[in-house]
Amino acid sequence: MISATDSYNRTAELKSFDESKAGVKGLVDAGLSTIPRMFIHPTDPSSSPPKHDVSIPIIDLTGMTNDPVLRKVIVERIREASETWGFFQVVNHSIPIMVLEEMLEGVKRFYEQDVEVKKGYYTRDVAKKVVYNSNYDLYTGPAANWRDTFYCFMAPQPPSPQDLPNTCREILMEYTKEVMKLGRVLMELLSEALGLSANHLNDIDCSEGLVVVGHYYPACPQPELTLGTSKHADDGFLTLLLQDQIGGLQILHEDKWFDVPPVPGALVVNIGDLLQLISNDTFKSVEHRVLANRIGPRVSVASFFTTSFQGTSKIYGPIKDLVSEDNPPRYREVTVSEYVTYALAKGLDGVSSLLNFRL
Ligand code: OGA
Ligand code: NI
Repeated sequence: MISATDSYNRTAELKSFDESKAGVKGLVDAGLSTIPRMFIHPTDPSSSPPKHDVSIPIIDLTGMTNDPVLRKVIVERIREASETWGFFQVVNHSIPIMVLEEMLEGVKRFYEQDVEVKKGYYTRDVAKKVVYNSNYDLYTGPAANWRDTFYCFMAPQPPSPQDLPNTCREILMEYTKEVMKLGRVLMELLSEALGLSANHLNDIDCSEGLVVVGHYYPACPQPELTLGTSKHADDGFLTLLLQDQIGGLQILHEDKWFDVPPVPGALVVNIGDLLQLISNDTFKSVEHRVLANRIGPRVSVASFFTTSFQGTSKIYGPIKDLVSEDNPPRYREVTVSEYVTYALAKGLDGVSSLLNFRL
C-alpha cells in the first residue's frame, strides 16, 4: 500500500540541504518555524528522564606537575572517573580562560561570517585538512543533527596558516598549542592511573595527532523532535571538550542520561574508543549526545587526540602490561586509520564501533 509518507524523497531533501552549503544556520536564518523532515529522529530522543543529582567528577589539577602528594590524589581521581564515567571535567588545567573564551568566539565568528565566504570551506573531501560541512554522516546516518561543524587537522602536520579560516586562525594555533601541552600532561596522568610509567601513552604516540572541531548548534524551533548530536562514542584516544554556558551535553551512565553541566573555565575530558581498546576495557569510552535547544546558538570545541588518516601504520592493541592469563586481550590489533575508516563509514547510528574489533 502506498501512503502519503512513501512519496517523501529523503535523498532529494538531503541533497538540496547539502548543496545550499549554508548548513543548519542557513535554515534558521531563512526563518523557518518547523524543522525539515530529514532532521526528525524516529523516537522522541529526549523522552527518557534526564537530570540527576549526581554528575561527572570535577577534578582540580592544581599541583599536578609539581606536588607529588597532590599528583597522587589527582591520578586516583582520574582513574576512578575513567573506569566508571569515562568522563570528567578539569579545572585549573593551565589553559588561560582568555584563550578558552577567544576560541569559542573564534568558532562563532567562523559561522557568523559572510555566508558566501563560508561556503568556500564547505566540502566532504576527507583528504582536506580544513573542512566545514553539516552532518559528516548526512547520507549514511539515520537522521540528521541540528548542528554545523568545521574541523582542522592540527597535528602532527598542521595546515599552513593561510589555509586556516581567517576568522579564527590565530586563536586556533594558540589553542592547539595549549591543548597539545595539556593533552601530554593528561596522558601522563592516565598512564599512571593505568599503573604504567608516566611516559607510556605519550611514547606510543597517543598524543601525536590532534583534530580540532568547532561545532555550532543553532537555536531550534522544535528541539524535542531532533538532536544536536546523536548518541555516539568518540573514536580517538582522548577528547578535550570546551563548551559554552548553554548546556545540552549528556552522557549515558548505567542506562540513564546525565547532564554534563557547563562549568566556567572547565574542560570536559573523555576517554575515546582507542584508549578503551588499548587499556583492554579498564577505561570506558562512554556514549554521549547533545540535545537541541530553543535557545542558541550553542558553541563547542572538541579536540580529538587521534592520528586519524594522517597516522602511520602503527598498530594498536591491548597494552601488554595490562593483559595476563586471567585478563586476556579483548580486542584485535588495529591501525588508527582502519578504526577511523570503519567508524566514519558507520556514521552516528548509536552502535559502538568497538564491537567490530572485539575478540
Ligand atoms: C563530539 C561531541 C559534544 C559537544 O564532537 O564528539 O560529542 O558538546 N561533542 O559538542
Ligand atoms: Ni563526542
